[in-house]
Amino acid sequence: MDKRAFSHRLIGQRERLHVSPGQLLERVEQSGYGPRSKEILREQVRHESTGQVGFALFNCPPAIVRGEGALVWDADGMEYVDMLAGFSVSNVGHCHSAVTAALAEQAGRLMHYFDLPGEPRERLAARLAAMAPGDRRRRVVFGTTGADAARLAIRLARWYTGAPIILSAYGGYHGTTGATMPTTAKGGMWAYFYPVLPQDSGHAKIPYSYPYRCPVGAAPEHCAEACLEFTRRMLLGKESPFAEHRAGVSNVAAILLEPMQASAGYIIPGAGYLRGIRELCDEFGFLLIDDEIQAGLGRTGRLWACEHEQVVPDMILTSKGLASGLPISAVIADDEVAASWGPGAHVGTFTAGALACATANATLDVYESEQLVKRAADRGAYFLDRLEGLRERHPILGWIDARGLFIGLEFVRDRAAKEPAMDETARMLEFCVREGLLFEKGGYYCAGSSSSPRWSSGRNSSTARPASWTGR
Ligand SMILES: Cc1ncc(COP(=O)(O)O)c(C=O)c1O
Repeated sequence: MDKRAFSHRLIGQRERLHVSPGQLLERVEQSGYGPRSKEILREQVRHESTGQVGFALFNCPPAIVRGEGALVWDADGMEYVDMLAGFSVSNVGHCHSAVTAALAEQAGRLMHYFDLPGEPRERLAARLAAMAPGDRRRRVVFGTTGADAARLAIRLARWYTGAPIILSAYGGYHGTTGATMPTTAKGGMWAYFYPVLPQDSGHAKIPYSYPYRCPVGAAPEHCAEACLEFTRRMLLGKESPFAEHRAGVSNVAAILLEPMQASAGYIIPGAGYLRGIRELCDEFGFLLIDDEIQAGLGRTGRLWACEHEQVVPDMILTSKGLASGLPISAVIADDEVAASWGPGAHVGTFTAGALACATANATLDVYESEQLVKRAADRGAYFLDRLEGLRERHPILGWIDARGLFIGLEFVRDRAAKEPAMDETARMLEFCVREGLLFEKGGYYCAGSSSSPRWSSGRNSSTARPASWTGR
């Protein structure tokens, strides 16, 4: 069949992407979970879309029904150490008593009243504004999800600067809504948006420093510098769409970036990368939007990951762990930027409701009383020390990225060729789930088997992250 034909491109692709409910049920039956878990999983397969994420992250996901601290239990009472911290949501531990008490107390008083001001909401706004790095005055724009914060920041940056283009990085993840998908670099997800492209013309990608497999082919110690130089040349070039330098016109509103990339495999950019991006923003006159939705709130051993490079962004995005599981997000923006909107520019029925805000305040109280940011730094140092020992003994562990409890491990078949150990990683994940340890495999080469032709050891095809361990 001609590869350009509709029937090959769309019907054929969809057949290859699709997993039927029957095939998912087979995975459930073959899994080692107990009878109650299997019944929940069967119910999911019966009633939910086959597009739900669990069966993509795991061959068959566990059915978690209870959590306490760093532990969670499935429906059959199997205990797991949750290295994922509920996908970066349960940073203070599952069901922390101070948080559940604040939630119950607020639920008895007022659960929600539209997108209007309230006591816990204004306390939270003041707190978040004061938490941003640097001494600039800040204002908060509240949203509901992480993607919501990203799309609000994009809108605000375009409004404030009057420029259309948003730059984001290869490997970046900022949500999967229509407004954010153009900034999310996940080819596997893009396929589910066909035939309408998740892209408006106001987006472009820049290389993200990934020292182990530098996207522009530099050695690890020069990767940051090489990626910055590549970006700078694009911004300067007369034959790229980013500026009309003679007239002093910038077409770029902002760079939207994760300070450390999470979904791409827990990648820590080379030293100087984020600082260099800040300098490019200043040199060319656009804003820096720092997506701290996963790397922020203490995970890296600093409150914000950008603090490792003393970078002060124009906007910071936060969500996930902010309210320990209740949906809320925020853009913490420069006063002048956030005050440039007129009333009614943004509204959402469930934005910053009383329950979510009271829970967020209680969560931040726990951060303070239990010194969680320092604890993440201390425990991270302990982990890194042991992981370095493992790397000395096991050649399959090719590379470790670690700042605090933001930890990614990269598994390779041999260290010289850096061939991703995809099958081995998948087996490790399955083994660990069976033994009661939850983590995530992710990154450029996490899907597919090693027999897939996608891997080649050629220099520029080597942007691959076969495995990551989101040890949080
Ligand atoms: C860095 C980052 N930004 C944005 C998002 C999107 O958040 P949500 O899934 O709440 O829309 C995520 C989610 O994982 C994320 O990790």
